[in-house]
Amino acid sequence: MSPINHSLQQTRLQETLTNAFERLARIKNQTELEALRAEFIGRQGVLARLMDELKTLSLEEKRVQGPALNELKKTLTEAFTAKEVELLQQLLEQKAARASSFDVTAYRPGSLQGSLHPASHIIEEVENILISMGYEIIDGPEIEREEINFEALNIPKNHPARDLQDTFWLTIPHLLPRTHTSSVQIRGMQQRQPPLALATTGRCYRQEATDASHDFVFMQCEILLVDKKISLANLFATAKLFLQGLFKQEKLELRIRPSYFPFVEPGLEMDMSCPFCSTGCSVCKKSRWIEIGGAGLIHPHVLKASGINPEEYSGFAFGFGLTRLIMLKYGIDDIRHLHSSKVDFLKQF
Ligand code: PHE
Repeated sequence: MSPINHSLQQTRLQETLTNAFERLARIKNQTELEALRAEFIGRQGVLARLMDELKTLSLEEKRVQGPALNELKKTLTEAFTAKEVELLQQLLEQKAARASSFDVTAYRPGSLQGSLHPASHIIEEVENILISMGYEIIDGPEIEREEINFEALNIPKNHPARDLQDTFWLTIPHLLPRTHTSSVQIRGMQQRQPPLALATTGRCYRQEATDASHDFVFMQCEILLVDKKISLANLFATAKLFLQGLFKQEKLELRIRPSYFPFVEPGLEMDMSCPFCSTGCSVCKKSRWIEIGGAGLIHPHVLKASGINPEEYSGFAFGFGLTRLIMLKYGIDDIRHLHSSKVDFLKQF
């Protein structure tokens, strides 16, 4: 055995030790520590290789190198364990520091704040415009009496017009979820004396198969004016001004088509020029017109049933689907989103 070989081995062990300690000092977390542990004392690590080399040495060399190598392994293993304890301690201290500086009063619910439903937005807008035009906003019950939803509106029992509105009937006789907001016209007229300028918004119910554009519950808005000498001209001017305000379009135009509703005479349906295009788009299905709703001059029977003299007074009624307007205004393509309670959908408004 040569002394040179001896000291060469010693130097390598010393270098290994120094190298390991230097790198151990720079370790910052458990992951780094495990990587370094594997590199030095793992099964294929530096020490394992030195052990392998040991086999090639002479007996005398083994006698010196063997214990030295064992000593090195012990020192390193202890150093790694000590570092592990140190890291754990650091982690615990950091956690304790975080816990003690946690300020429960710093919770800000603001970031989770909800927003108004699109229906609430549009109701507010519609009502503001109508109030600015001098209308009184009134309310009526969603569960309505048959005589108000139908009879007082000139739709007697067994009249075919009842079939136009597929009604849900309650098990309690003569009560129904209202099929339209026209019922509120009657309540408004019965409780007041003309001149009247009334408007209402609210839910209506019809037995409809549900799809992207139909729902069994939807919202309507009804506008009613009763005074002396009210004519279709008042209706057109009012509807136009209102829709121009809602869609913020001075150039918005109206078009009418004759139609039939038992509670108005003449009855008509109204279309507005598409507020989203001038040449045809997907909203107006390239027709440049969008159906708005029904309207007409209040039928003398209806005025009479509400205690108003049709010889002295006349009036107009205009009713339209508010849900449809919501969908148009916000570009909502499926009516079912409106009742879905999906936060991702509702967050957008
Ligand atoms: N109530 C009618 C409907 O729901 C709409 C309407 C209102 C028609 C007022 C004329 C006058 O279909």
